[in-house]
Amino acid sequence: MGKNRQSQRSPKTSKLVMTYDIKDLSLADKGKQRIDWAEKDMPVLRSIRDSFTKKKPLSGLRIAACLHVTTETANLMRTLKAGGAQVLLCASNPLSTQDDAAASLAKHDEISVFAIKGENKDTYYGHIHSVLDAKPTITMDDGADLVSVLHTKKTGLIGDILGGTEETTTGVIRLRSMSEKGVLQYPIIAVNDAKTKHFFDNRYGTGQSTLDGIIRATNKLMAGSVFVVSGYGWCGRGLAMRARGMGARVIVTEINPLSALEAVMDGYQVMPIDEAAPLGDVFCTVTGDVNVIRTEHFERMKDGAIVSNSGHFNVELELEKLGRLAKSKKEVKEFVEEYTLSSGKRIYVLAEGRLVNLSVAEGHPASVMDMSFANQALCIEYLVKNRPSLQNKVYSVPEDIDRNIARLKLQAMGVKIDTLTSEQEKYLHSWELGT
Ligand code: ADE
Repeated sequence: MGKNRQSQRSPKTSKLVMTYDIKDLSLADKGKQRIDWAEKDMPVLRSIRDSFTKKKPLSGLRIAACLHVTTETANLMRTLKAGGAQVLLCASNPLSTQDDAAASLAKHDEISVFAIKGENKDTYYGHIHSVLDAKPTITMDDGADLVSVLHTKKTGLIGDILGGTEETTTGVIRLRSMSEKGVLQYPIIAVNDAKTKHFFDNRYGTGQSTLDGIIRATNKLMAGSVFVVSGYGWCGRGLAMRARGMGARVIVTEINPLSALEAVMDGYQVMPIDEAAPLGDVFCTVTGDVNVIRTEHFERMKDGAIVSNSGHFNVELELEKLGRLAKSKKEVKEFVEEYTLSSGKRIYVLAEGRLVNLSVAEGHPASVMDMSFANQALCIEYLVKNRPSLQNKVYSVPEDIDRNIARLKLQAMGVKIDTLTSEQEKYLHSWELGT
């Protein structure tokens, strides 16, 4: 539990108006400075906030958000509140919380935050329960833990929920599985599937912030190193591209033949993890699946190999087994644990295998979160307007929201583009015209 766990009652009605559980409220001013800094790179979200302030499209909603508690998320929370919603926030990962951002939200924005960096599993789930105790009408998730708790442990609250959104690939996969099995109880919009989300956030955001995390933890030179990327989805593409940009020789491991072929033609070496294990200096998993790097691979690695994960959950590295295999384990530096095998070989694991970009660095830069969170805000507005026609399914982000965000982002960047002439428009809609 945090040093600052509080409940506040209204002086007039003595009704409970706000509660929070954060590390330290005295971090609030530093948090506010950093939130304002991030806001400068979030012009699309700012314009939505201005419009929400005037129109209040979210009036009467109670939004439970389970997201990485960062300065960028703080700007999303402020936007939702400006739209008239009551907002409650908990962390979507035990290690990703920025305690100063959490403190600022509680102190300066009167938003109920339940998140402490490094919280244990019980506190993590306790915080999810705390936001659900407020009886939300909307859920906003990153990884689907909130929806999962609601559908398993808090089913009595589901009747009040209008709908929800999901931020990330892993969460969308979980929700589609719930939908296919017929257990999903309300409509959810897959924000991750918007082009203005995954083309930019997953690729450029993960690419840059993952390298940032690995470098902050280790200060290793990337130039000339052999960097193994497991998984060549959007995140893997971004990471491989940025690692190569810093001079690393990149190896990609994949299970999907199409993605593997793409990696080959993008110029990377592609091979099974078993073959990559003895070659790599730095490893990073971004697959979304379990036990991608296993004990047999750890055993084949070079002495001093660095191993990390940037996928959503800490399941991609077989760390429990590595712990049993190792004759000793110690922290040698913040976020770096040294496992010494019986052969004497040392393997360095970063951030306990939790997503390294948010655990060690600050997550994706605000400029890409601008588009991801613009999708979040506009999708909540869309959900409210269109609720009667929606079923208990996973929906894509409407195309016009996606295009509008791209247009606003270009505008903010001062980039102009062409429009079709009427002749071009006609050509595109005809089938008679050939050579
Ligand atoms: N996911 C990845 N980076 C993030 C950030 N900066 N804020 C919130 N969620 C994120």
